[in-house]
Amino acid sequence: MIDDLLSAARGGSGSALLVIGSPCSGRSTLLDCAIRAATDMLTLSARGVRDESDLAYSGLRILLQPVLAHLTNLSSDRAAALRKVLDPEQGAGSTPAGGHLVGTAVLDLLATAAARRPVLLAVDDLPLFDAATTKVLLFVVRRLAGTGVAALLSAATPLPPSLAQGDLPLLALRGLDPEAAGHCGLFQAIDASC
Ligand SMILES: Nc1ncnc2c1ncn2[C@@H]1O[C@H](COP(=O)(O)OP(=O)(O)OP(=O)(O)O)[C@@H](O)[C@H]1O
Ligand SMILES: [Mg+2]
Repeated sequence: MIDDLLSAARGGSGSALLVIGSPCSGRSTLLDCAIRAATDMLTLSARGVRDESDLAYSGLRILLQPVLAHLTNLSSDRAAALRKVLDPEQGAGSTPAGGHLVGTAVLDLLATAAARRPVLLAVDDLPLFDAATTKVLLFVVRRLAGTGVAALLSAATPLPPSLAQGDLPLLALRGLDPEAAGHCGLFQAIDASC
């Protein structure tokens, strides 16, 4: 499924997949595996952190850092909207009112980057990101058709309502199967922390 997601993005047919599973089911490991399989792609990755969930757009700032040079290729209104929320001073006070414009700008930015090199957007623990980032990402990943962007998101179960009622394709984990783990060279024991 993930190989298909990456191959499709390489061919210009972007799409998204939401990896779900209980704590310690192997979600992060699977995302890391996908990143390793995508060395030919530009990877934008970030892990949701509960401590930063009240900092509006903090997740987006991390994710988009490697593609900010493409901001100059966007229309001036989209670039301005995105620059505003990515500025820590202004972003913290931004309201979701401009969310649609920001979402369109992010989509445009990713598609522009992917026109040069296919993009893997790897977002671990999406529900732990700030709400503004989560909202923009959900807007974006539903509109990847026709771009070279593959989005791989993860969330622990039980899912929050915004994801449980969503329409994203799901991959439900019950722990990585031995074949997938072997493919990644991950036969080590489960972390003592899990
Ligand atoms: N099939 C497997 N065989 C061996 N080890 C595995 C397998 N799947 C996962 N692991 C190990 O289990 C641990 C937990 O995996 P991982 O951190 O990916 O889970 P997670 O679902 O992201 O957990 P969390 O809820 O803490 O975010 C890691 O140490 C990982 O290497
Ligand atoms: Mg994890």
